[in-house]
Amino acid sequence: MTYTAVPAMAIRNPQLEIAGGRVLSGELSVSGAKNSALVLMAACLLTRDQLRLRNVPPLTDITAMGEMLSSLGCQVVRKGDCLELTGDRISTAAAPYELVNSLRASFFCIGPLLARMGMARVPLPGGCQIGTRPVVEHVKGLKAMGAQVTIEHGIVSAVMPGRGHRLKGGRIHLDCPSVGATETLMMAAVLADGETVIDNAAQEPEVIDLAGLLIAMGGRVRGAGTPTITIAGVDRLHGADYAVIPDRIEAGTFLLAAAITRSAMRISPVIPEHLGAVITKLEEAGCVIRPDGIGVEIVARQINAVDLRTQPFPGFPTDLQAPFMSLLATAKGTSVITENIFENRLQHVAELQRMGAAIRMQGNTAFVEGVPRLSGAPVQGTDLRASAAMVLAGLAAEGLTTVRGLEYLDRGYAHLEDKLNAAGAQIKRVSSY
Ligand code: EPZ
Repeated sequence: MTYTAVPAMAIRNPQLEIAGGRVLSGELSVSGAKNSALVLMAACLLTRDQLRLRNVPPLTDITAMGEMLSSLGCQVVRKGDCLELTGDRISTAAAPYELVNSLRASFFCIGPLLARMGMARVPLPGGCQIGTRPVVEHVKGLKAMGAQVTIEHGIVSAVMPGRGHRLKGGRIHLDCPSVGATETLMMAAVLADGETVIDNAAQEPEVIDLAGLLIAMGGRVRGAGTPTITIAGVDRLHGADYAVIPDRIEAGTFLLAAAITRSAMRISPVIPEHLGAVITKLEEAGCVIRPDGIGVEIVARQINAVDLRTQPFPGFPTDLQAPFMSLLATAKGTSVITENIFENRLQHVAELQRMGAAIRMQGNTAFVEGVPRLSGAPVQGTDLRASAAMVLAGLAAEGLTTVRGLEYLDRGYAHLEDKLNAAGAQIKRVSSY
């Protein structure tokens, strides 16, 4: 039986039906990084010139960010895998609640909006399934750069006092290496008056990608990828034509798809340095992984238990904790997985248990005793990466697994079932009633 791809938006209440137990083969192609593209899009607010971003993944989150920027007066045009963004006519510095609420990454616009307009009104993004997601560090940093920031009725209002509305360079120490705060403050500082130093900055590859774009736009940024980033403010930025890095989390998810199905595959493109901790753990679990300059080849036969502790980059990424747990649910031995980044990112445990996984919880730690086979069952994805974890579990399970929660999955994975089916999986997107 061959599965034909049906356009995702054509199905109401969609779910994935996965016939498990198949070995995969061939190659899985990795799209551009969602968590880089979203912040690079916000940088279009920093210039009147056109910003052209290439390798932008076709995801609902990207569409939502485009709507956010359009609501501010930007022109956003998609041409294949490119986005052309022009912020020459910003009509307002107030971001609409319903757009920020649907995509918390749009809160990052507060930095460039303030730098460009001297003011910004952006609703608090609020929490989500995995945690409260505070923006304390973002606000603290903007205040350190001279902004007057108030939070009333769920709206963060920031304004530069006095005339000229330029932010002032300053020294900022983040209490935690927040990715979003680092990125927000980099975009605020790049047009500030003077030098800004961000200490305890996030070191994620997406931060380095943003620095690369800002430099391509004429910004002066040093130290991205280290705990201390120095930004020398400039008077104006110009447009750029810039390619988004490959999505390391999608690549890691595909490596795990090969591992959980005990397959030999090639994943490409992959920047190995972006996945160091993940590749190390997969090798520790028994996989053979060989980078080949563009992508990586993986061979998985016997999978052994390993322990994981999520950490800020370069530690093990929280975004692959759930997908990796699916693999370890089928490993030989007992693994200890500790989620240190988000306070509520273990909801997939209950769903894996429905599939026969033997997992015991103690606070933010899961003790995962591998079982020979998971069994297919109806399961629900509770956040973007938990949904991916359930798809992986379905690939390995005996029988049929149905995965709901595709509104989460489609935020972070473009054409996931098409890519996996092309590698030998049997996944069908159907209506859930
Ligand atoms: C980014 O979120 C990613 N999203 C997340 O990916 C990722 O999980 C996260 O970084 C960590 O790597 C985007 O880039 C769009 P943080 P962000 O601020 O910036 C605490 C996915 O699945 N914190 O680094 O919101 C916070 O509570 C998504 O693709 C504070 O305490 O993450 C959390 O526990 C999910 N105070 C930790 O830091 C603050 O002021 C990491 O948050 C800010 C954050």
